[in-house]
Amino acid sequence: MSVSLNTWSVWQDLQQHRQSWDGVTLRQLFREDPQRAQRFSAEACGLYLDYSKHLIDSETVRLLMALARGRHLEDRRAAMFAGEPVNRTEGRAALHAALRAPKGYVMPTVGMNVVPEVHQVLEHMAAFTRSIHEGRWRGATGRPLRKVVNVGIGGSYLGPEMAWKALRAYRHPDMDLRFVANVDGATFVDVTAGLDPAETLFIISSKTFTTLETMTNAHQARHWITSALGEAAVAKHFVAVSTNTDAVKAFGMDAEHMFGFWDWVGGRYSMDSAIGLSTMLAVGPEHFTEMLAGFHAMDIHFQTAPLERNLPVLLGLLALWYNNFWAAHTQAILPYAHDLARFPAYLQQLQMESNGKRVDEDGHPVPVDTGTIIWGEPGTDGQHSFYQLIHQGTRLIPCDFIGFCRPLSALAEQHDLLMANLIAQAEALAFGKTAEELRAEGVAEAQVPFRMFPGNRPSSVVLADALTPHTLGALVALYEHSVFTQGVIWGIDSFDQWGVELGKILAQRIVADIRGAAGHPHDASTQALMARYLLIRGD
Ligand code: F6P
Repeated sequence: MSVSLNTWSVWQDLQQHRQSWDGVTLRQLFREDPQRAQRFSAEACGLYLDYSKHLIDSETVRLLMALARGRHLEDRRAAMFAGEPVNRTEGRAALHAALRAPKGYVMPTVGMNVVPEVHQVLEHMAAFTRSIHEGRWRGATGRPLRKVVNVGIGGSYLGPEMAWKALRAYRHPDMDLRFVANVDGATFVDVTAGLDPAETLFIISSKTFTTLETMTNAHQARHWITSALGEAAVAKHFVAVSTNTDAVKAFGMDAEHMFGFWDWVGGRYSMDSAIGLSTMLAVGPEHFTEMLAGFHAMDIHFQTAPLERNLPVLLGLLALWYNNFWAAHTQAILPYAHDLARFPAYLQQLQMESNGKRVDEDGHPVPVDTGTIIWGEPGTDGQHSFYQLIHQGTRLIPCDFIGFCRPLSALAEQHDLLMANLIAQAEALAFGKTAEELRAEGVAEAQVPFRMFPGNRPSSVVLADALTPHTLGALVALYEHSVFTQGVIWGIDSFDQWGVELGKILAQRIVADIRGAAGHPHDASTQALMARYLLIRGD
């Protein structure tokens, strides 16, 4: 588009429309429109989205849809699903949708249909998983391998760890999974504490097989195994997930013990690729397949539902509405499910690594704010910590509440309490409590300002029947496509991550300097920090 985003007429219409919201309250909107909850809700793939408690009306939705259409969201979506190189700065496709396409499904991709290759890897993963579960693949001493340690970081860690927790109710009873990501040696020591090498399998998960943290921890793991069981044990106690066959072989693993994926799978879009091997080991191939079906259902919904009823489009545009027109720079992700404890962290990488960009695809500065800051914790824990600021602070923080109608714990009676809290929080944020209400309750005048809740604090509620593998897949795909939607509007490349490179290079220089092998020039602050570190660390 030749016209700059913020000077484009639709953008300016939205800015003007935003002005008309001053003084409007959600109380008033709900009073005036008894159909509002129905009007602003949508359902797909087992997920019910209530977005009626947002600061929107039909005109807002009309303008946001005009924004999406004007930025060619439908064409860009088609290009992504067709395998075009939508990751322009790396010249790659972003074909994660192919990872969950059912067997026999033909992705109308540019060039080769990749689905058969995807299923070859899935079959390899399933065969391996069964051989572990059935005890046909054993450790070097003949013991079954029941402890699995996934060594990986970023997209090669966050999805698997999130899914391990999320699918707690579906775990194979004998399997125990652990995760080593941080290069902090304390992580490795802590995670391996109490593990017996004879029954431990390491999965080295790294798309590139060059990442400093993962390679350091992988070598540590190798040492941990070989010092207990000898060199020959590597073949039985290590498998790799990567796109880099040569590096896997150089580590001493057979290509046969490697599960591959492709450069068209971004790290943060890879939990449903072979990077999900630990997930499959945890829950078995059948449940993994159900999770893929949930992803796929949302892919189809995203491609086919009208934009006005399209869940990822709605979520993406709502996030953008607050980010760009209400100066709300953060968004809270609040799962009311213990099992989704790591979902906010997962979404942090998905959203912030994808859309934390300051230039558009042509390299020109984006004239508006991009990349909403994502954070959150499970409810009800957060209610007793940071919700105070959301309710009564000076900032506007849109919230995504995520809940499930059926409990997955035996303590089912507690579920009513959990869900009552979710529903109550959304109600309290939207409608608040007025000074008049407080006075009518007999609250002393001096206390009124402190006890008042302004309300008008927007939230979405995503409600599903239960946290099943299918629901999890649909939920993750919902956010993936919402991130994509926002990236298209901003005109940025949501699939690269150049912003992580500089720190990596500088860390390598500094480690060489600290170890006395180099003398790179640094600023005075960096020099002083290194000197203090060396002084106190000693030799
Ligand atoms: O943080 C940068 C990044 O490249 C992520 O995008 C990726 O998920 C992570 O590092 C891990 O990379 P790899 O799987 O290649 O080890």
